[in-house]
Amino acid sequence: MASKVIVTGGLGFIGSHTVVELQQKGYKVIIADNLSNSTLEVLDRIARITEQKPEMEVVDLSDRAACLAFFKAHADADAVIHFAASKAVGESVQKPMLYYRNNLDSLLYTIEGMQQGSCRKLVYSSSCTVYGQPKQLPVTEQTPRLEAECPYGNTKKISEDILTDLTKGELPADGKPFRILALRYFNPIGAHPSALIGELPNGVPGNLMPFITQTAAGIRPCLQVFGNDYATPDGTPIRDYIYVCDLAQAHVAAMEYLEKEQAVGIDFFNLGTGRGYSVLEVIESFERSTGQKLNYKITGRRPGDIEQIWADTSKAERLLGWKANTGIDQMTLSAWKWQQSLERAK
Ligand code: WQD
Repeated sequence: MASKVIVTGGLGFIGSHTVVELQQKGYKVIIADNLSNSTLEVLDRIARITEQKPEMEVVDLSDRAACLAFFKAHADADAVIHFAASKAVGESVQKPMLYYRNNLDSLLYTIEGMQQGSCRKLVYSSSCTVYGQPKQLPVTEQTPRLEAECPYGNTKKISEDILTDLTKGELPADGKPFRILALRYFNPIGAHPSALIGELPNGVPGNLMPFITQTAAGIRPCLQVFGNDYATPDGTPIRDYIYVCDLAQAHVAAMEYLEKEQAVGIDFFNLGTGRGYSVLEVIESFERSTGQKLNYKITGRRPGDIEQIWADTSKAERLLGWKANTGIDQMTLSAWKWQQSLERAK
């Protein structure tokens, strides 16, 4: 019988792409999502891709009673993938308590919910923001985590510490230890080849890729490039952009690893491509892959931005048997096709 996986935040950008990959690998999925950053329409779109509508419940995991009731109702789950969190860097600076309350309470109550039953396998959605601006590049999983640049990144760091201490503490009453993988995402971009699911930012996009596609679609008049005076080849910041479908497939590999490796308490994996691109290189890729000319201008630096980061991905390749394999032009083109499908749907 197919393993049953609870996917919290499963209607979000990375969550929805992961649900597609899980279903296509034969997993039974139950989504918990509070719809704060998504819509129920995503459920129908997932079903159009996989021809099976995932089970789904609207639940706010930061509401302890609601969270525990949800986990009680799904105590037969074999594993949990925890995406549910607020994730806008800029918003987290403006509203830190919303981020600490939502992101930490949701994790703590999810753990409590799992402890009610016997499910102990957890894949946690972490972030490369835990590294801050690394002194050495590429970053490995042993690279020291630095001071978080924002409350969002700090909730990811604190959550990793909570999970680490959880696996070091006394065993739960049933003697079954937690087995946890924390996946540190770099910069997920792009959209499913069907253009039925993709990134759906609320309001003005904070992230680069949706701002580029909305500018090309005429929704935004001009892309601001936040600074070209960094110590990088073209002066603009460098990031490790990873195709969202490759990232989703890494979650399936993580589930299979947890199934196979009984020993792991907690482990960490960088999920990037190992190749960094500057902002101007992403713009060049977008113009090359889509044939769209992009209207942009260089402005001042964005507070909190780091200069450059990209991943050493050898650990995920070695242990998870996973490697991202999608190039930057395919990623930027998939983002544009998704934007065009949104325009058609209006
Ligand atoms: C990328 C680059 C900006 C917008 C994100 C997530 C974070 C984490 C890592 C998952 C930067 C520049 C952007 C714009 C620009 N992901 N930029 N003009 O800041 O690396 O962090 O990925 O956990 O949660 O927020 O991504 O897309 O905001 O910025 O010049 O309008 O694009 O300065 O150099 P970032 P981003």
